[in-house]
Amino acid sequence: MSAPIGPGHNPLRSSRDARLTRIPGPNGLIIFGVTGDLARKKLLPAVYDLANRGLLPPGFALTGFGRRDWTSEEFADVVLENVKQYARTPFREAVWEHLRQGIRFVQGAFDDDNAFDRLAETVRNLDRERGTMGNHAFYLSIPPNSFQTVTQQLKRSGLAAPAENEWRRVVIEKPFGHDLQSARELNETVESVFPPDSVFRIDHYLGKETVQNILAMRFANTLWEPIWNANFIDHVQITMAEDIGVSGRAGYYDGVGAARDVIQNHLLQLFALTAMEEPVSFDAEDLRNEKEKVLQATRLPEDLSSGVARGQYAGGWQGAKHVSGFLEEDGMDPRSKTETFAAITLFVDNRRWAGVPFYLRTGKRLGRRVTEIAIVFKRASQYLFDPSKTSTMGENALVIRVQPNEGISIRFGSKVPGTGMFVRDVTMDFGYGHAFTEESPEAYERLLLDVLLGDPPLFPRHREVELSWRILDPVEQFWDSLEGPVEQYEPGSWGPQSADDMLARDGRTWRRP
Ligand code: BG6
Repeated sequence: MSAPIGPGHNPLRSSRDARLTRIPGPNGLIIFGVTGDLARKKLLPAVYDLANRGLLPPGFALTGFGRRDWTSEEFADVVLENVKQYARTPFREAVWEHLRQGIRFVQGAFDDDNAFDRLAETVRNLDRERGTMGNHAFYLSIPPNSFQTVTQQLKRSGLAAPAENEWRRVVIEKPFGHDLQSARELNETVESVFPPDSVFRIDHYLGKETVQNILAMRFANTLWEPIWNANFIDHVQITMAEDIGVSGRAGYYDGVGAARDVIQNHLLQLFALTAMEEPVSFDAEDLRNEKEKVLQATRLPEDLSSGVARGQYAGGWQGAKHVSGFLEEDGMDPRSKTETFAAITLFVDNRRWAGVPFYLRTGKRLGRRVTEIAIVFKRASQYLFDPSKTSTMGENALVIRVQPNEGISIRFGSKVPGTGMFVRDVTMDFGYGHAFTEESPEAYERLLLDVLLGDPPLFPRHREVELSWRILDPVEQFWDSLEGPVEQYEPGSWGPQSADDMLARDGRTWRRP
């Protein structure tokens, strides 16, 4: 095979990349939904960043499919614009020029047989002109209600079927359905055309370095595993807070809500990685088995009225900015009951976690953007210490900061210098920015690369998706059964009062990240 895209002296391709990262063989990536936000802000820039890091083969092609009346040249200009605006790595003309030569656009609607025949012809031509050798990944960055039409078109036009020594893969994005039943139907649709090992389900949180580091932290060290259980851990808090609202996405968000949008996928993935047993290996099968086992042992509390909470952000001041309430956002139904904040309590019925609650919360327009996993330990017996001198001491906590300011901190009590034995909380901190010189790649770079390599460990299989819906469905049904408006919370706050009450009933409080 000849050298990867980009000259061999690419300064961005560190020796570490070369040692640890494989380069996929010749292939083509076909994106449906190229004009969407995800494609423009994440996928197209990630393709360029991979090329720039020398991680794409010379025989690589990028094809966009959509309704716009674009030529391939015009599409390439759109790609360039987005690359310049959103790519992580610096712009280099030579890399771009090579990439550009393999860019094509096929114009058409999803139900247009001719358009798919033209796509098949374009792909065949690329195999010849660009040397993609019959290996193609179809990225469905489109609403799930179009999956059926597109996968059937791929089948009809022969695009889904590889010849010998070729591969065809399909990439799908969440939401994988809106409940267990629809997830099953969606899966049948996709897997009736592509075999299960050719289906790559993207949960972009799994592409984040800090999320993969949960596995390294837990299993490459001796420190944590001995105390990673109900004997030492009081409870776990998993928070994904955003300061933005849903503006511009109201159409997608209404009827979906915070729990379906991120708890079913991102937060349950963080939860599974935190709670699962040690896998036999990092192979897809072993990793997925352990995640599925823990999801299977997971249950909601019996009384949902006290074990879950939801809310909608109200209008008001968020910092120095006046923002609209959720119900006043453009395109919103003012009677909507969709939640923009959701918190749930989970228990894992196994020996490791018996009786330990996991509290998961997520919301829009909260105090700040932060995702973290806090492992909160039981209090030590304090009989040695005068209670009046340890009053400022909280519980020991290990906090995995998924983003921003990526890192891990440990909070514990320490003697305040002086003659008395006063104890106060202090923190010990690991920050990626300080410990490593390497910059973390974007989640989509890692995941796209894995798709092209055919490396499945970071992609949940269908059973995992089903198990997540099995956990969430009763919460959604419970909320559907409630009358009256949804509780409001102030923008810039940490959610509705009912979320605080949920923990207070257990004698606990949420962390202020
Ligand atoms: C997406 C959700 O999956 O994740 C969005 O649909 C959310 O609502 C986004 O804003 C957050 O991703 P990140 O990587 O910025 O935390």
